Amino acid sequence: MKHQVVIITGVAGIGKSSVARLLAQKLGCSYYDGDDFHPQANVEKMQRGTALKDEDRAPWLQSIHNFIVARLPLESLVLACSALKQKYRDVLEQGLPAAQVQWVHLQGDFDLVYNRILQRAGHFMPPELLQSQYDAYEASRSGLKIDVNQPLISVVEQIAHLLEAQSEMGVLGLGVMGTNLARNIADKGIALSVFNRHVEGAEENVALKATQKYPELAPARPYDDLRTFVASLQKPRKILLMINAGPAIDEVLRQLTPLLSEGDVVIDGGNSHYRDTGRRMDDLSRHRIHYLGAGVSGGEEGALLGPAIMPGGSAEAYALAAPVLTRIAAVNAAGERCCAYIGAGGSGHFVKMVHNGIEYAEMQLIAETYAHLRWEQGLSPEGIAEIFAEWNAGSEQSYLLEITIVVLLKKDTDGLPLLDKVSDAAANKGTGGWTSIAACDLGVPIPSITAALFARYQSALKTLRTEYAAQFQPETAGRKPALDDLKNLYRFCRLMNHHQGFRLIRAASEAYQWDIGLEALAGIWSGGCIIRSRLLADIRAHLAHQPDILLVPSVAGFLAGHYTSVARAYQMLAGGREAIPCISAGLEYFKYMTQEESSASVLQAQRDYFGAHTYQRKDRPGEVFHTNWI
Ligand code: 6PG
Repeated sequence: MKHQVVIITGVAGIGKSSVARLLAQKLGCSYYDGDDFHPQANVEKMQRGTALKDEDRAPWLQSIHNFIVARLPLESLVLACSALKQKYRDVLEQGLPAAQVQWVHLQGDFDLVYNRILQRAGHFMPPELLQSQYDAYEASRSGLKIDVNQPLISVVEQIAHLLEAQSEMGVLGLGVMGTNLARNIADKGIALSVFNRHVEGAEENVALKATQKYPELAPARPYDDLRTFVASLQKPRKILLMINAGPAIDEVLRQLTPLLSEGDVVIDGGNSHYRDTGRRMDDLSRHRIHYLGAGVSGGEEGALLGPAIMPGGSAEAYALAAPVLTRIAAVNAAGERCCAYIGAGGSGHFVKMVHNGIEYAEMQLIAETYAHLRWEQGLSPEGIAEIFAEWNAGSEQSYLLEITIVVLLKKDTDGLPLLDKVSDAAANKGTGGWTSIAACDLGVPIPSITAALFARYQSALKTLRTEYAAQFQPETAGRKPALDDLKNLYRFCRLMNHHQGFRLIRAASEAYQWDIGLEALAGIWSGGCIIRSRLLADIRAHLAHQPDILLVPSVAGFLAGHYTSVARAYQMLAGGREAIPCISAGLEYFKYMTQEESSASVLQAQRDYFGAHTYQRKDRPGEVFHTNWI
């Protein structure tokens, strides 16, 4: 193991030497006092009461630095040194590997330090001199900041606790998801370090406050200094990044990489794009650092109580992270943990992205069914909740249907349905769009997912919709399908949605050689995540025998046996005023996919007509034709 130097800084009289001496004892290493390195000229100057200038300090700081460089190959050391300014600290650590230098900044109010000095026998410092130290002090960019307003022994214990490499796992980024995952991890008795960046006036002492607020996090080590956070982790280190997808991840990796060692694992638990994850994996592999792209689903509550986790990357990296990840994951109805190795590269984030695409369509199907029942059939939210509750109690059970029932029953303070006051312009964070683009890249049709995405885009065009609505008031011939037909239509469209999602994953797995196990994935998705449902548990059972759910005899039997009922309901909804883009996409997908002859002959002929793009003939397969159509 590489040796380390711990440098204790702070104003005169704050207790650097006492803290450093005791800390060295506790850590079992040598203690050195920076003051012992002053050249004779400086000592004489100070004895005369003359303040040192920067040019006086230069040789002093350099000789401390040289000393550290000489000792580090031999031993770890604790050094007390005022180093009030950043430029002094820069001299001390110049060229040293970041992971070998730990800064500890002792901090305390002026009055506290002054009173302590007064109480010390034989030690007197005029207030002006102490004030000048406070004036000269520059806040540190990195390092532990320790409040000395506690007994000396507590200060030392706190520093030792924070410096010791004892945590099994680190969570970096304490937003809602990060905090809840950290609480989940700590709750399992896993020794944990938590880190959140310091942003003046916006994110201050976030990690510390989290450990004070949540009892499960009380034993966790809190940091806002990356270096000490990293140093607090057992090797190989495991760090779970819970930060916003995008450039923020690259920035954190830029800072983190030099602090890590070969064999460490960084796990990105956010909704990162799978291509970014693949790129980061390659970048870090050059440093022999593992990178896992782990899709995490289940929202805030899932993160706390058990999410579904979809880790992708090298099997070796997964083996290192698995003991923690599997322990914090949800358990599905079959009693299995909702976490399993997905496959190589960015596959973990790819399947999480598709999960979100399926989520978009699942949500949209419920919304369209609700809108029909509410505005075409004139049912109340309570009445619709009752219907959904019946569906949810049987084959259509799902988390999303379950929460919709709660939403429907929620009243505002005036006793009226809160839903009626919720804006009808839907937002999105992009994963539905990524799914659609990925499907286009691979040439895989996912019309239900894309229809759900585009429906959100249309919803957001509120002003335009309002303007058009004033001009168009079409006569509608909406009719009321039997509830059984409507339920069959809903199930039909859900099957189409899942079929599309799984086909997309299969295509990606083949194209990118990820070797994704679909059955295991469906197992993960049957608990913890947002799209968990009885349908997914059924699909999981089917996938054990047949990778294409439309070819599963019981599914095919349902589709064939209920098509008339479904088409009946579909016609009635299609004739109504409420838009049903996702329902219609699902049904049209089914029609197209189950039609041996398609209308695309017309397209091929047109293409050949205007662009000589050539075509193939049904009666002469394998040959290519071009016709002069005029
Ligand atoms: C989950 C969710 C989660 C988040 C989506 C929502 O699985 O826990 O999918 O990842 O809620 O990012 O995305 P939109 O804002 O695009 O709806």
